[in-house]
Amino acid sequence: MNEKASTNAYLVVNLSESQRVELRCKKGEVLIGRSPACDLILPESSVSRKHARITGTEFGFFIEDVSKNGTFIDGRRIGKETLAGNTDIKIGPYELHFMTSSLDAEKQDELPTEPLGDTAMLPHGRKANKIRRASAIDPSEIGMIGDSKEIRELFGLMKKVAETDFPVLIIGETGTGKELVARGIHLMSTRRAHPFVAVNCSAIAPGLTESELFGHEKGAFTGALSERKGAFEIAQGGTLFLDEVGDMSKDVQPKLLRALEESEIKRVGGTHPVSVNIRIIAATNRDLREEAAEKTFRKDLFYRLNSFPISIPPLRERNQDVGLLADCFLLSYAQKYGKSKAITDEALDVLAKYPWPGNVRELKNVINRAAVLTQEDEISPYIIKELLRVESHSIQGPGDPPAPRAALRKIDLAERETIVKELNRTKWNKTRAAKNLGIAKSTLFEKLRRYDIKTPDMQ
Ligand SMILES: Nc1ncnc2c1ncn2[C@@H]1O[C@H](COP(=O)(O)OP(=O)(O)OP(=O)(O)O)[C@@H](O)[C@H]1O
Ligand SMILES: [Mg+2]
Repeated sequence: MNEKASTNAYLVVNLSESQRVELRCKKGEVLIGRSPACDLILPESSVSRKHARITGTEFGFFIEDVSKNGTFIDGRRIGKETLAGNTDIKIGPYELHFMTSSLDAEKQDELPTEPLGDTAMLPHGRKANKIRRASAIDPSEIGMIGDSKEIRELFGLMKKVAETDFPVLIIGETGTGKELVARGIHLMSTRRAHPFVAVNCSAIAPGLTESELFGHEKGAFTGALSERKGAFEIAQGGTLFLDEVGDMSKDVQPKLLRALEESEIKRVGGTHPVSVNIRIIAATNRDLREEAAEKTFRKDLFYRLNSFPISIPPLRERNQDVGLLADCFLLSYAQKYGKSKAITDEALDVLAKYPWPGNVRELKNVINRAAVLTQEDEISPYIIKELLRVESHSIQGPGDPPAPRAALRKIDLAERETIVKELNRTKWNKTRAAKNLGIAKSTLFEKLRRYDIKTPDMQ
């Protein structure tokens, strides 16, 4: 069935290990190509200057190839065709994902959602029965769930700052929703029709930070075979999200500051300045103020980024959100796998008392695991306790001896299997696997030791 263009659709593409672009498509035309005139810029030379266009009409979305090298769906070169639901589109070396579902930091194939209303907060709607059905919940477009005072205040701040162009610094522990908040601000701002470009500063290959951000001219360095636009130019008109900005290499920090102050950049090897019109949102889970005081992060850049700080409280400080989040994650699970599960009040009590070091991401993973492991309709406090025991055990347990395979219980084996699956999925990239699993990298290493999991070529 065609998706009406009145519902939101998104194009998402990973431009590199550290750079992702998201573009909201509505009624009208989205032009994809290498030229700066395109709405979605794909900076590889095999991409035509104008390569493909997506048109949103009241009957749905269509894609048309206008390139030299072709646009492909399912390995087939296309001319003009309808874009239904979720589709992977191949252009040059890029895999574009077209979807009509909500954008999620880690999995972009989750819930179908309603357009963002006046507020992203969900009504609590929780009944006093022993078991609540999750189906009463209506997730909003940016997928920000919570009805605590803290989340309401946070949402109020997001709305206010979305009306301005101030740089925003989002501060919060891992898994608190920094990326969700950044995307939310973008979608609430007038820049929403332009790209949201997320750069993970900790994942940029050494020595490539400047080129990732500002682009380069042909021959600027060995391997620079053709000119390439960087994140600043690709985000033109939209929002540039600098994730884990505390990891930005020190030699690039003054150049970033200059770009912010002058609204122009110079490509590596380039001579002409290029004007850029973007909003910067940065995020960190570190204490950048302290790092600036200790001179490990540039003070002037810190003050510039910190124009409008937004701090997201950890989940343990707003545990009244736990129930609503759990219900929403179960609804998401039910929609995806067609298996409706509810959580008992007793199980919820156990969840509410846990300190959630991995915050919402950890809760989401625990709920998904509980749903997978529960055969019945309701999730018991027993399974939650077992899952949390494994979680906290691995967090506190660096001194524990590794458990022999045979001694692992069913639940441990399920966790072991989940970890191996994620590692395979991320081609044994442990940073990404840990992130997707919602645990700290150190926790992943502890689990690898505990479950005796070795990288394939070491086995
Ligand atoms: N309020 C919320 N409502 C619904 N989902 C949330 C909320 N906060 C976070 N999440 C979910 O938790 C996961 C982690 O969120 P996100 O990636 O934004 O966290 P983060 O703070 O950027 O973490 P990290 O520092 O590890 O990168 C995502 O799947 C996100 O959708
Ligand atoms: Mg993040």
